[in-house]
Amino acid sequence: MAVTAAGLVARTRLAVLPTPLVATPRLAEALGTGPLYVKRDDLTGFAFGGNKARPLEFLLGAATADGADTLVTGGAPGSNFCAAAAAAALRAGLHCELVIAGEPTPPGPALALALSWGATVRWTGVPERDSVDAVLPRIAAGLTARGRRPYLIPRGGATGLGAVGYALAAFELHKQLADWGVGAARVVVAVGSGGTMAGLVAGNVLLGRPWTLVGGSASRPPEAAAARVLALARECSRLFAQAWPPGTCRTGPAPGPGGTGPGGTGPADVVVADVRGPGHGLPSPEATAVAEQAMRTEGLMVDPVYTAKALSLVPRQPGGGNVVFWHTGGLLDAVAAAGQAHR
Ligand SMILES: Cc1ncc(COP(=O)(O)O)c(C=O)c1O
Repeated sequence: MAVTAAGLVARTRLAVLPTPLVATPRLAEALGTGPLYVKRDDLTGFAFGGNKARPLEFLLGAATADGADTLVTGGAPGSNFCAAAAAAALRAGLHCELVIAGEPTPPGPALALALSWGATVRWTGVPERDSVDAVLPRIAAGLTARGRRPYLIPRGGATGLGAVGYALAAFELHKQLADWGVGAARVVVAVGSGGTMAGLVAGNVLLGRPWTLVGGSASRPPEAAAARVLALARECSRLFAQAWPPGTCRTGPAPGPGGTGPGGTGPADVVVADVRGPGHGLPSPEATAVAEQAMRTEGLMVDPVYTAKALSLVPRQPGGGNVVFWHTGGLLDAVAAAGQAHR
């Protein structure tokens, strides 16, 4: 994706930031971990979008700066990103065209919201999520031919530019942890399309690597997810350095000794574990167990597709040191799961 200079620094505010960082001692005890903190990006305050709000601020900013009139994106029928993109488009007065994998089916909560927010939906007719990728440019080309100005966003908003939102979020967490008197920590986050972790990796490197980042891959094999996260993190670091040359980022501290630029980000910065269980979108027993513990101990809702699976990594963290669970949202699926559990 081409990113213009204007698009790089353009940002359309969507999220309510900073999101809270809370200590969860009862959950820590239940999971048998050391001190456990939860970064509440389920509370980004935009369209139930959770972790989608931060990247969309930059993607929507770039679309607006480019003079776009339509966001074109897509994903699985349950995609939280598609719903949030539909709402974001409205915020900027744009149309939203969604390409959804599969045959038309009655919409779940995310797609129903996307439709309510005015998105146009087309189906690929093929169940595989990557069937979306080839259709997106065709839709964008068709719109261009009709005189429209589409802005294409890959599935999940996973681009270096979108990841910038999470590089800045790393600075946000760093400050909040300092307020709690915490330096080093293991930071656990769900991985789907990889943009969220990529931004955190870029931010961690800029901060001098205070943390070990641990991703829980909920959709791809972990090796493929790690390679994708690394590539996106490098692209994110490159864009970040362009927008905020070293020491000029107002949102955070000057880069630490690990801030060696994109070239300095390597495979060791990206630890990804397999939390898919029986498969993407299917609940795993470990995830179901920790979701219940989170609900019963702290009233914390996690969803079966992403956040419960990532949370199941928390008790597996070695060392008894500080752990941060980065809650990425999924509230629509969490509510639906609670509803099903009590039928
Ligand atoms: C609730 C939730 N958490 C985590 C993720 C994964 O984020 P990413 O796609 O940036 O890896 C997603 C992706 O859709 C999500 O909806």
